[in-house]
Amino acid sequence: MRKDVRILLVGESKVGKTSLIMSLVSEEFPVVVPYRVEEITIPADVTPERVPTHIVDYSEAEQTDEQLFQEISKANVICIVYAVNNKMSIEKVTDHWIPLIIENTDKDSRVPLILVGNKSDLVEHSSMETILPIMNQYSEIETCVECSAKNLKNISELFYYAQKAVLHPTGPLYCPEKKD
Ligand code: GTP
Ligand code: MG
Repeated sequence: MRKDVRILLVGESKVGKTSLIMSLVSEEFPVVVPYRVEEITIPADVTPERVPTHIVDYSEAEQTDEQLFQEISKANVICIVYAVNNKMSIEKVTDHWIPLIIENTDKDSRVPLILVGNKSDLVEHSSMETILPIMNQYSEIETCVECSAKNLKNISELFYYAQKAVLHPTGPLYCPEKKD
């Protein structure tokens, strides 16, 4: 059995990565948010799967690309966060984040990805129509979830899905190379 789970949050600036982590920890929406919070560890007995869980924030404002690549290669699961009211942040999921993650992870060890649509409190309709084709395109994506750090909607679910993606992956663990 695994001894711990390391969750990394990435995504464009201002989509709410730091707010999501702070909302989870304090169970309230933070008024003031730093660019980045220090890595936090949730003890095994308060996590749904009873495994110590590390949550790691990323901020372009405070970290170099090299630091980001290192965190990507250390992560067991990566949440790619976008804001449901920001089209550009959704486009960057496929134009930037997924290729970057694939480049910086070991080809033999599949790192599950979770697409996280934050700020659901700001829109009436869901972003799923846009997200489903991306889900179908990349087998690395384990699941997607829309949430709101502000309303505390789906916050604990998001981190539960991330834990579950590592402990009970549903996708193929081994993809045979295409032969030509
Ligand atoms: P960087 O550290 O710059 O990469 O940004 P970030 O992704 O960590 O975003 P951050 O948590 O700093 O939030 C950016 C802004 O969005 C802040 O003003 C937050 O208050 C706001 N915000 C975050 N989550 C939500 C949300 O769920 N709903 C709404 N309405 N605003 C949010
Ligand atoms: Mg931040």
